[in-house]
Amino acid sequence: MVLKVFRYDPEKDEVPYYRTYEVNGEPSDRLLDCLNRIRWEQDPTLSFRMSCGHGICGSDGMRINGVCGLPCQKLVSAFEGEVLVEPLPVFRVMKDLVVDLGPFFEKYRSLAPYLITRRAAPERERCQLPEEQRLFEDAIRCILCACCTASCPVNQAKETEAYAGPAALVRAFRYLFDSRDEGSSERLALLDRKEGALGCRTLWKCTEVCPKQIPVTKEIGQIKKRIYEAKKAGNKPGSPGSGGDEPPREEEGT
Ligand code: SF4
Ligand code: F3S
Ligand code: FES
Repeated sequence: MVLKVFRYDPEKDEVPYYRTYEVNGEPSDRLLDCLNRIRWEQDPTLSFRMSCGHGICGSDGMRINGVCGLPCQKLVSAFEGEVLVEPLPVFRVMKDLVVDLGPFFEKYRSLAPYLITRRAAPERERCQLPEEQRLFEDAIRCILCACCTASCPVNQAKETEAYAGPAALVRAFRYLFDSRDEGSSERLALLDRKEGALGCRTLWKCTEVCPKQIPVTKEIGQIKKRIYEAKKAGNKPGSPGSGGDEPPREEEGT
């Protein structure tokens, strides 16, 4: 394998540069194995994040041949010729392939990524029917790798920096459509803004890159539909009694 890797150490380098490495890789190895081999055998100064190695932790998001993804999910056999490895766009580079995900998690937290309840906790768990759970089971697969947000042209455009981005919206969808949640009016108020779901211009890049095959664009579309329905019913999102306990109807596309 020949890997052309983005390098930048702000403490040493005035500008970023690319360094090319040759590394032995079996067809069944993953690209992450090759990066590890570079770090262990050739250049211990190369920085990147990783943990699980199996598409679970979401920590190794990067741009591979121009497309955001997880190197732990990319087989060597899938590549021909030189492979370009760069950090995720949108975020500030801290060193080499490591970016500052602080703003990503701030936006994630801005959309209330937790269950909101008003009733006292039951003695046992909060029960839910399997068909209620199925409404958001795709969204549960999200591993917060940030590949979708980094790929979204709205997030990439500097003038729309405030847009929460698809990853935060997937988590917002997960709670908005959870039958146990009682905070839909607050959620809709957060989402009915250009910083929320209205910032999405249905550009589909998020869905294309999601390593967990989450229908991101469709879920954002369902949020928009829920906002529209709440307004049509005369309940301004954010006002008391704007509902949210009704089951969502299935939407085709956006
Ligand atoms: Fe990653 Fe997909 Fe979650 Fe976006 S929705 S953060 S791409 S797992
Ligand atoms: Fe961006 Fe995905 Fe919407 S790419 S504009 S969040 S559909
Ligand atoms: Fe955990 Fe790739 S290393 S998702």
